[in-house]
Amino acid sequence: MEVLINTSLQRGAATCTSSSWFHVKTNLILNPSSHTLLSAMKTRAPLWLSTVVSLALILTSCSKKEDAQSNGPSKGKEKIFVMIPKGVHPYYEPCYEGFKDAGAKYGVKTEYLAAKAFEVPQEVEIIENVIARHVDGIAISALDDQGLVPAIEEATKAGIKVITFDAPAPSSKALTYIGTMNEAAGYSGAEQLIKLMNNEGEVAVLQGGLGAPNLNDRFKGFERCLKEKAPNIKIVAREDEQGKIDMTVNKTEALLQAHPNLKAIFGVSAEVCPGAAAALKQQGKAGKIILAGFDDLPDTLAGIRSDVVNFCIAQRTYKMGWLSVGKLVEAMDNKPLPKEIDTGVIIITKANADSYMQDMKKEFAK
Ligand code: BGC
Repeated sequence: MEVLINTSLQRGAATCTSSSWFHVKTNLILNPSSHTLLSAMKTRAPLWLSTVVSLALILTSCSKKEDAQSNGPSKGKEKIFVMIPKGVHPYYEPCYEGFKDAGAKYGVKTEYLAAKAFEVPQEVEIIENVIARHVDGIAISALDDQGLVPAIEEATKAGIKVITFDAPAPSSKALTYIGTMNEAAGYSGAEQLIKLMNNEGEVAVLQGGLGAPNLNDRFKGFERCLKEKAPNIKIVAREDEQGKIDMTVNKTEALLQAHPNLKAIFGVSAEVCPGAAAALKQQGKAGKIILAGFDDLPDTLAGIRSDVVNFCIAQRTYKMGWLSVGKLVEAMDNKPLPKEIDTGVIIITKANADSYMQDMKKEFAK
């Protein structure tokens, strides 16, 4: 197990700062008895050490709580729903914001537990830990399909309601998937790109992990659209950057070297536009190579405003988090859930970069 972090988050994607990428705010999950020790540690010990120790404390306290409690989800007690993303990444900040806000509305306690890296064993271990704590509901963004099947089955057997948000695990027993219809979104991304590329040329695709069905579906839709509508556009590379911005920068540099005629870069995950934009700027190629992709991280929006990024496909992340709580509540009331719930996407260009967020927030005006 590496690091578990409970991020304290600002509402809306527009409020994520690029610094949060490198320094995720660490409001570690504390229980009263561990608080003093951790405060002292924070002043003297490096962050990773205090984080690892806090995790040990969390787990110790959890197993104690477990001894004292009966098996199965707590009845009549405050319910606990946990959001488990693929790993630490600013993309999930608005997801958890929606989750937390809905938790307050429904009177459910919410937690956010993120592994340090996008690695399946780490995500599985987090799921196992919350099963041991008998939480009531889990919302997972699946880093992998098959790899999560046993852990989701175990949680289900333990009476915990499990759903997926953002990234589905179709082979698992998760009760529903809440998020983007990814194949269709990848297809419409390609439609936009075709116009910008004038129906021809070389495009490279960057992807944050090759195991997640959501990203593979996007690529599938993207590729299908090019085959159907623009056979003169060639995908010359598809690279895995593991959800990391520094790796995206390096991969982009390598792509520029290997493919001197590259006309466009398309990102199927959130870190691509910020990372590729940085590399293009460094190489004096900003605005000369078409850059587009998923998600509306602040650096992507800045890139759109300054003509480094042509467009992005914004997912409704706050809504994913909000609906996750609503559907977990319904599941606890034994209501049937649909197999999937489409949260929709919005294409962002310079024309709507400054207004779309306000429009999206209206839906959740409190
Ligand atoms: C995806 C997430 C992924 C994130 C960062 C988003 O586009 O929907 O599943 O974790 O990018 O890679």
